[in-house]
Amino acid sequence: MQKRTIQTRPIEGQKPGTSGLRKKTRIFMGPHYLENFVQAVWNAIGGVQGKTLVLGGDGRYFNDRAAQVILRMAAAGGAARVIVGQNALLSTPAASNLIRQRGTDGGIILSASHNPGGPEEDFGVKFNGPNGGPAPEELGARIFAATQRLESYDILEAQDVDLSQLGATRLGGMVVEIVDPVADYAALMARLFDFGAIARLIAGGFTIRFDAMHAVTGPYARAILQDMLGAPEGSVVNAVPSPDFGGGHPDPNPIWAKDLVDLVMGPDAPDFAAASDGDGDRNMILGRGIVVTPSDSLAVLAANAHLAPGYARGLAGVARSMPTSAAVDRVAAARGLALYETPTGWKFFGSLLDAGRVTLCGEESAGTGSDHVREKDGLWAVLLWLNILAETGASVADMLRAHWREFGRNYYARHDYEALDAGLAGAMLDDLRARLPGLVGTQAAGRRIVAADEFAYDDPVDGSRSEGQGLRIGLEGGARIVFRLSGTGTEGATLRVYLEEYVDAPGRLDLPVSEVLAPVIAAADEIAGITARTGRSGPDVVS
Ligand code: G6P
Ligand code: ZN
Repeated sequence: MQKRTIQTRPIEGQKPGTSGLRKKTRIFMGPHYLENFVQAVWNAIGGVQGKTLVLGGDGRYFNDRAAQVILRMAAAGGAARVIVGQNALLSTPAASNLIRQRGTDGGIILSASHNPGGPEEDFGVKFNGPNGGPAPEELGARIFAATQRLESYDILEAQDVDLSQLGATRLGGMVVEIVDPVADYAALMARLFDFGAIARLIAGGFTIRFDAMHAVTGPYARAILQDMLGAPEGSVVNAVPSPDFGGGHPDPNPIWAKDLVDLVMGPDAPDFAAASDGDGDRNMILGRGIVVTPSDSLAVLAANAHLAPGYARGLAGVARSMPTSAAVDRVAAARGLALYETPTGWKFFGSLLDAGRVTLCGEESAGTGSDHVREKDGLWAVLLWLNILAETGASVADMLRAHWREFGRNYYARHDYEALDAGLAGAMLDDLRARLPGLVGTQAAGRRIVAADEFAYDDPVDGSRSEGQGLRIGLEGGARIVFRLSGTGTEGATLRVYLEEYVDAPGRLDLPVSEVLAPVIAAADEIAGITARTGRSGPDVVS
């Protein structure tokens, strides 16, 4: 086995976005593309000499090939050990857990999350640090800088490592340790939650359906929900990870998990249903006759987490991303909890979690998690919900209605305009940004604008500042509109418009979301000129 140094040149556009580097799979498969990026990661973290890393991914097309390349590059860089999930599989939260449990120097996660997989679809590579969390912005910037001055990369000339066999093997001087991807994670869940109570609930006839969407959570959900908690065979569906996720989008929202929504709205609804995404960090929670929005889910979990053993001592504080609804703010205010508002991207929660300032955090984009790892965690959210339902004996719908009665309801929706011309979308927001100072006091669709600014975040722990994190408009009466461009797309630009209206009148807590938000939607269109400028008659996705 020989180490080779391959001459290369910087490749344009290798800038990590909201969540690592995400591109079309074909681009990643192009000459030197993956290798350049991985070498840039090594360079940015001061090399991998003597280090221990974790490696795994969501099993999408090219996952297996990319893992072999990364192993050979880690070996060439002098890494001491790489801990790999069997068959190069690890869910994102399980990878985060392994990085922490084993005290490693970080890890590489191969995933484009909820984006579709396949040769014509998406792939991604993400570096997580020793705390188990996604690289902070500053490290992302150093990785990008390293991609721009790359001249060569090092790789071992070697055969593929057989990643199907558990145990340790060698690649050059490096140990490759192949581990069961589920075991450590399942043990962590069993420590946080009252598995006995959940098992009794299920044994008593409480029915569940978990849709793994042909993605990585299949083996995790089968092991935990069926084998450990006793849910009958068939409770976990689409449980075998496939390289193209069965041809769909492994995105747990009402569009891509429509079957699940139809199921809970129909006559055969289970008591509880849930889905997760490609890499297992997102979640969607449903109950008989109800779909819980991620923002509401975060609020309900914050209000009730103390019912699970892992959180029995209460919460240190809670955090949400700025575009997430303020439902959790009301819980925090009522319970005297510190509340933090961060930019979009799980990486921004890392410093707050590390400093012990928050226990729970969540995002409107179907992410919820806690200080047990440094990623959002789909199955964790499912288990916390189940633990709470087991303790209270309530249905999902009961929980929600009781929550709204106590705290009021933040009606909420996100409208996505996908694959817009990047120049056009950028210009639309630039123009709105320029008009922000003059907007306060004016009317939009008959509502007075009371606030208008661009969100910037000063991290209270590490002092870093992140600017340009979304344009916010406040309307009289508590409604809010946020405009921002997605940082995870791979085609053109995606405009996200986040819409929210707070209602606490007891008779108005169960109205159709579209009805309550209609005036806010009209105001958003008038303020940004979306229809006029994009020529689109409406959003591509409403979630
Ligand atoms: C990923 C990140 C999340 C983020 C989401 C949406 O899932 O892990 O933290 O909220 O993408 O990001 P975007 O920039 O596309 O709105
Ligand atoms: Zn994900």
